[in-house]
Parts: sequence; C-alpha cells; structure tokens
Amino acid sequence: MTHLHALLAQMTLDEKIGQLVQLSGEFFLDEPQLTVGPKARLGITQEVVSHVGSVLNVSGAAKTREIQRQHLENSRLKIPLLFMADVIYGYRTIFPIPLALGCTWEPSQIRQCCVVAAKEAASAGSHVTFAPMADLVRDARWGRCMESTGEDVFLNTQYVRASVEGFQQNLATQQGLAACVKHFVGYGAPVGGRDYNTVELSHQSLFDDYFPPFLAAIEAGCEMVMTSFNTVDGIPVTANPWLLKTLLRDRWHFQGITIADYAAVKELIPHGVAADEQEACALAFNAGLDIDMKTPCYANGLKPLLAAGKISERALDAAVLRVLRLKQKLGLFEDPYRGTSPEGEQRCCYHPDHLRLARETAGKSIVVLKNERQTLPFPPETTRIALIGPYADNPDIFGLWAVYGEKSRCTTLKAALQEAVPAGNLRVTQGCDLLLDYDFLGEFGATHQIDQTRALSDTEREQERQRALDFAREADIVLLAMGEHMMQSGEAASRTDLHLPRHQVAFIQQIAAVAKKTVLILFNGRPLVLTDVVDCVDAIVEAWFPGIEGSRALVDIISGARNPSGRLSMSFPYANGQVPVYYNALNTGRPAQRSDHSPRFLSKYLDCPNAPLFPFGFGLSWHHTTLSTLRVTPKLVPGGRVTVSVTASNSSHTAGCETIQLYLNDCVASIARPALQLKAFTRISLAAGASQVVSFEITENDLGFYDAEGERRLEYGRFRVFVGLNSADLLEGEFYYAES
Ligand code: NOJ
Repeated sequence: MTHLHALLAQMTLDEKIGQLVQLSGEFFLDEPQLTVGPKARLGITQEVVSHVGSVLNVSGAAKTREIQRQHLENSRLKIPLLFMADVIYGYRTIFPIPLALGCTWEPSQIRQCCVVAAKEAASAGSHVTFAPMADLVRDARWGRCMESTGEDVFLNTQYVRASVEGFQQNLATQQGLAACVKHFVGYGAPVGGRDYNTVELSHQSLFDDYFPPFLAAIEAGCEMVMTSFNTVDGIPVTANPWLLKTLLRDRWHFQGITIADYAAVKELIPHGVAADEQEACALAFNAGLDIDMKTPCYANGLKPLLAAGKISERALDAAVLRVLRLKQKLGLFEDPYRGTSPEGEQRCCYHPDHLRLARETAGKSIVVLKNERQTLPFPPETTRIALIGPYADNPDIFGLWAVYGEKSRCTTLKAALQEAVPAGNLRVTQGCDLLLDYDFLGEFGATHQIDQTRALSDTEREQERQRALDFAREADIVLLAMGEHMMQSGEAASRTDLHLPRHQVAFIQQIAAVAKKTVLILFNGRPLVLTDVVDCVDAIVEAWFPGIEGSRALVDIISGARNPSGRLSMSFPYANGQVPVYYNALNTGRPAQRSDHSPRFLSKYLDCPNAPLFPFGFGLSWHHTTLSTLRVTPKLVPGGRVTVSVTASNSSHTAGCETIQLYLNDCVASIARPALQLKAFTRISLAAGASQVVSFEITENDLGFYDAEGERRLEYGRFRVFVGLNSADLLEGEFYYAES
C-alpha cells in the first residue's frame, strides 16, 4: 500500500499541480474524442499534460488502458490517472432519463440501475461518474429537467442517496464507480429557466429545498462534489468560500474532492469576478476548489501564485492528498488498470440481466396521464393497430446524456410491437416530421451528430399525411408516437415554448378526428404543455426518453402485460406562462382558495388556472384505487409519534401497485411554510377487489424546517395532514404538536 504522505513528499510542484488538472481525451489520443462542452484551445504545454491527474470522458477498456500505459511510462512517480465520465443513467445499457426514474417513486430501483451503470462503466475503465445530479427543478423551461428527479426535496433526497449507494456499492471489488454529486448548488433554478443564468435563491430556500440532497449524498459517502456554473449571492459557486468551505467542509465535514464544472474556473472572468486566468485560479483555489476541469487556469496559475504567496502550500498539499486518496481507494496504485480488459467489458455491457432491469425500470417510470373510453390496455393479438409518428420507428430514445449509448442497439417501438402483434395487424408510418427545422439544435458532442436528420420534402410530407390518415381510418386503435427531439432537452436546451410543435399538434388533431381511438405516446425530456392536445385523444402515455428497452416496456404497458405505476415527480404546466409551477409553493397572503378577499385581488391569473394540467404525484394505472377513512392521532408530543391511517380499496378486476402519498402543512410557523410538503409515501400491491389499511408514522423529524441562517426550527402548533394518490386529490386531517 502506497504511503500517500511519503509519495507527496517526493512530488515536485509541477507534479502536485498536475493532480489538480483535468483534461479531456484529445490531449491523450490523436483520433477525435468525445467532447460535451464548448471547444477551446487551452494553451497548455505537453509537460502539463504529462503531469495531469485525471481524464474527462474517455471510455472503453482498450482506450483507457492505452492512455494509462503511456502515462505511467512517462510518469516519474508512477501515479496513475483517474478516468472520470458522464455515466448519468447508464453506460451502454441505457436506463430511462432521471426525470423518468423520478416517476418510479422507488429509490431501490434507481439504486439497482446505478449498480449496473457502474459495473459496465468500470469494466470500460471509468473510475468516477459525474452523477447523481441532485438539482431540484421547478422550471420546465430549463432543459436539464431531464437530468433531475424532479421538483420535490424529499423524493430527490432519497433518490440521490440511493444513487450514491448504487454507484459506489462495488467500489472495493473494482466494479463500482466513485460518485460525484452535482451541481452544487442552485443550478436548477436559473432565472427564466435559461441554462447557465443567474440564480436568485433565498438562504432559507437553499437550506430547506436545495441543500438536503447534497447533504444526503455526502452522508452516503459520496467521494466528490462538482460545483455549479451559477452564482449564489452574486458569487459564482466555483469561487464561493461560504459554500465550498464553511458549508461543505466545516459544517458537513466533507472529506472528498471538489471539482469545477466544465471550464467554470475560467468562466469567473466573464462572470466579472476575476480579471484574468490567474485571478480566476486564485479565487477558485482559495475558495476551496480542488480540481479545475478543462481550463488552463490551475495548470498555468498555481505555480506563480504560490511563489507570490497568494495561495498556501498547505492547502495545495491537502487538495493533492485528496486526489491521491481517491486513487488509493480505487486500488489504482496496486492495479492502475483496475482489472479491465476489452473482453471483460464486452462480457459485462449489455448483459441480459442489465437489459431486463432496463425494461423493468422503464415499465415503472412510464406515466399514463389519460385513459378514457377503455382505450388502454388492448389485446395486441386481435387489434388492428396503426403506429404513426416520428417516434414510430426511431431508435433515438435515449435522451441527451446517454453519451455512451449506442442507438443501433436500441429497439424501436415498431420493432417491439412486431414482437407482440401478428404481422397483418400492424401498419406503421412516420406520418409527420419531428421538427420542421433541425439546424437550431446545433452540435453537442461526438456521439450526438444530427447531420443525417432532415425534414421531409413538401411532397413526402403530404404523402405521409395521407398514408397516416388512411391507416388511422382503417385501424381499431392509433398509436401516435410524438414528442421532443432528444436535443431539445438536456444541457443548453432551454425553451420558452413547452407545447409540442404546432405542426405536430395539427397532425395529432387531424389523425384523432378520423381514428376510432387514439393513444398519444410521448417521448420527451421535460414536462410539456399538453393543453392543446389533451382533449382530442383518448389516452396519453408519457414515455419520457425511456432508454434501450423503453419500447418493449411501452408494449408491456399498452398490451396489459404490465400495469403502469409511474407517478409524476414534476408538475405538467397548464400554460407556458405559469412556469415555474410546482406543488409545494407557499400559500401567499392572498391564496386563490380559502381567502376572504374579493376574487379580483387573489393570487391568480386572469387567463389561466393556478393548477397545473397534471399535478405532482399523478399517474393512472389499469386498476382503480380509492382512499377512504383517514384517521389521525390528534396529538404529537416530543419524542412521540402520530399515526395516520387510510383505507385503500381496489375496486377493479385488476391487481396493481399504488403509491399512497402523505403531505403535511404547518399551519402557523415563524416562517411561511409550503401549503403542502411530501413527507412520506408507500407503495402497496393491491389484489383485484382488495382493501388494505395503510399506516404512516409521523415524528418530530418530519416537522422541522430551516431558517435563513441554517438553524433547524421545530415549532409547536397545528399541522394539517393530507393523504392521496396525487398532490391535488387529497383526504385531510390534522393533529397538534404540543409540549404535553
Ligand atoms: C458540463 C455539465 O454541466 C456537467 O454536468 C458534466 O458532468 C460536465 N460538463 C462534464 O462533461
């Protein structure tokens, strides 16, 4: 075992600084490499490259082994490289996007996906994943909704904890990855939903809503934290000592590594807090940032700053030690290749067990938003189906952050239906364009070239439309596979209009007008405004970007082989102008309901309801549950507990899984509290016709909240309790929290 202090003592200053610099693949290999950020010439010498401590987004056992071999050959002290990668929701076996995973309401399912993602990526030579993303998001305009598990702090906290546990589960046996929780912090709340924009959050909200998932990650042993691009209190997080030192190190006792997001150190210059690269370097380093990702600031700046006494050698050593410690923990000093081989990678990736998990997970994450006239499910053997739409036969259903996904391995909806439906019963056509113009999407990275995508010509468009109308008229059921282009959600994909494109809406209306029954199946990465299509179709299935087995999971659901259980973890707005709309808002002094004021002077819109079209927690199943008989212990005393029980009855002939949700409202507190806050949920299986009493226990832990100084407050008084199947349809009770 390498003695790290002894190793550190032998290191030159350049060697130390190198450990704090991260570069991407093009510095190590001649062929074109994956880049998932802006391209810039860095102005870094070959000598710096030879000392670098970590590599960004190079994967594959053969490649990582080769880079490691070359590096060690030239490394005086034989300090291995760390390979870090964006393994966000799968490496080769691509799971549903995180927003879809959020709809499972099943942290253990997410844990399993992370275990598998880590196994596959570790077999391909990765050591660290830039995941989980713990950003709370309330604004569907922000493209990175797709990477979040949603708008609720309680759910997100559980998911983040499960993800860290999953990624790191097999760290010791070389089959796990170190997790890097991101983006610390507030990144999910950019003003106007515009990516990379300013964030204005109160400290109270930071403590109550935005910090807890990060703290949970750290408590779960997360090895790294990535800083976000945005400012907090006007100070970019990457150079914010209050966040990186006072909070992370002093208060939360985080021992691991901090890393800047891509180019964020140099971005301190356009932020307007640093005059040049050297000042950016000093600000970030002295704020507590360990690794500079993809800028020359640390590489060129740390040495002169040290000489000028503007940074301390002790701090430098401490940061370097943290990097070395992770290398040691990963076993890299013993085996810099961490047991990888191209054969091992091939054996591990796409393992049938992994694909099974992907199908099951997608099945649990799909949310049925509407189902009328008994449209779904239907027997595929005896139904004449018209499958129409730009996603009818399109494998591009991974979403943006599946950077190592191979869409050639993805089953399309058409192919999945062909496995279940007799040939004569299925007719398929594209029907209409996904987008009329693709140029505005730009380029994201090597795996995301969209150069082959083009809009239909006018003649093709009319032919497709006619064919689709013919197929629709003759079918018993039409499946319309529509949605966003995968490049419309994700990083740098903010949008102001959340409707489906107008030509898709018009097409849906035309088809629905001639079809006997229409099911709208949506592939997208964020909540959409569906107000203009909701009434013209019989059923809506929100598939999200469901991953490699997503199409088969969809067929499982629409054919009745699986009873859907997904519940929204983010509200679907009624209109663009409502955004951000989220369930756990404050009541205001002039609430739209339960106010004495005359209607004009309430907190509401003149032209749109306050409520979203589909609320947080909502989703339909093939069975039907009703809740009744809410019972609540009337009093909670310190150290005690309140029992809340409700009877759940399945009045249908189908067995199913139901998610019972418990919300609280603190009626009078020293700080205004949300009208509703999710505090517990449970998933139960209900046999056909069965009833079950479901109980929850509430303790003082569920009642506290943070003030703006980060102190936790626990206050006596009345609490309202709500139990329901979603956040808008609730049974209500109450209890008092009192001294005795
Ligand atoms: C920028 C993104 O914000 C971050 O999420 C990602 O991990 C890094 N680039 C590295 O690719």
